[in-house]
Amino acid sequence: MLVQGQPRRTVWLESDGESVGVIDQRRLPFSFETLTLRSTEDAARAIRDMAVRGAGCIGAVAAHGMFLAARECEREGLAGGAFDAAFAEKGQELRATRPTAVNLAWAVERQLAAVASVVSASDKTAVARDTACAVADEDADFCRRIGEHGLPILRKIFESKGGKTPVNILTHCNAGWLAFVDHGSATAPIYAAHAAGIPVHVWVDETRPRNQGARLTAWELGQQGVPHTLIVDNAGGHLMQHGRVDLVITGTDRTTYSGDVANKIGTYLKALAARDNGVPFYVALPSSSFDWEIADGLTGIPIEERGGEEVSRIGGWSGEAESEIEVNLVAKGTPVANFAFDVTPARFVTGLITERGVCPATESGIRALFPEKVPAPARV
Ligand code: MRU
Repeated sequence: MLVQGQPRRTVWLESDGESVGVIDQRRLPFSFETLTLRSTEDAARAIRDMAVRGAGCIGAVAAHGMFLAARECEREGLAGGAFDAAFAEKGQELRATRPTAVNLAWAVERQLAAVASVVSASDKTAVARDTACAVADEDADFCRRIGEHGLPILRKIFESKGGKTPVNILTHCNAGWLAFVDHGSATAPIYAAHAAGIPVHVWVDETRPRNQGARLTAWELGQQGVPHTLIVDNAGGHLMQHGRVDLVITGTDRTTYSGDVANKIGTYLKALAARDNGVPFYVALPSSSFDWEIADGLTGIPIEERGGEEVSRIGGWSGEAESEIEVNLVAKGTPVANFAFDVTPARFVTGLITERGVCPATESGIRALFPEKVPAPARV
């Protein structure tokens, strides 16, 4: 997608073939900066500290981190089983950075399997590099296809409203291209509709505590010229009661094979309000965000808890200082809890928009689109 009119991706292999470039999302929207990752530890830190975030982007950075890990193993002179063991350990380091987004574990597993399929250290590194690039390319392609499959939903709503007024979409957090490699998941149908000449307007939840909606979604929609309005997290229900939301589209960090959706904290409340007001609630995801082993999202999906300072403090730009400033929001010593995600039960989800099409959020609906992904015997 575009940054100041120039197409960009969130993750790329640098021209030296040895390091990885990413957009530092912590600086947006005030400054567009990139980071160069040269080691497994660099990649782990970028994910842990949320320089990169969002399900698909985390997966693509993890896949590239595994390429850096393979290079390290080769440089250490490791071969055969010793290479594979050290490589798996580095994969574990990456996996441990964030618990909820399943794309992370998925990317690491994919790299482990790919690298185990060849013997020499140089072949293993080459396979890890190719796999990292394939993960990024696939993510971009799958998100583009999510846009194609979501477009008819928006077109139908536009026509049902008389074909003159914009389709109002509410979204939560950032499931835009910054959260993937390109296009985004929740935003892909919106970008596709905008490109097709269907007027759209997006209500952007600010998404406390880290404000991914305010800082990232609003910025990327603006760069793309998509009309949008920033709202506080609690405004969505009011807007739905007054007929000002035609549909909700969110992303997901992990969706069970039965259709339960883990997403940024507050998503569940939007789904409840949508149900009460007869507003369709769609979730857009590439297949890499399905968990094929968990049936019950409420008991099975680990919910990340983050540091309290994300709630008790807030950063922003005064317009005068060179960089952002941070201020306290609460009295010193106020106890704080910071749950990063919640689970929306499948019964509240109108449909899942995937790279293979739109399906009901049910085990049979998902299986009809992904028949080869036979779920393992239910763990929970
Ligand atoms: O904690 P984050 O910023 O990594 O949260 C992930 C998200 O961006 C959202 O939950 C998003 O809606 C789904 S991931 C594309």
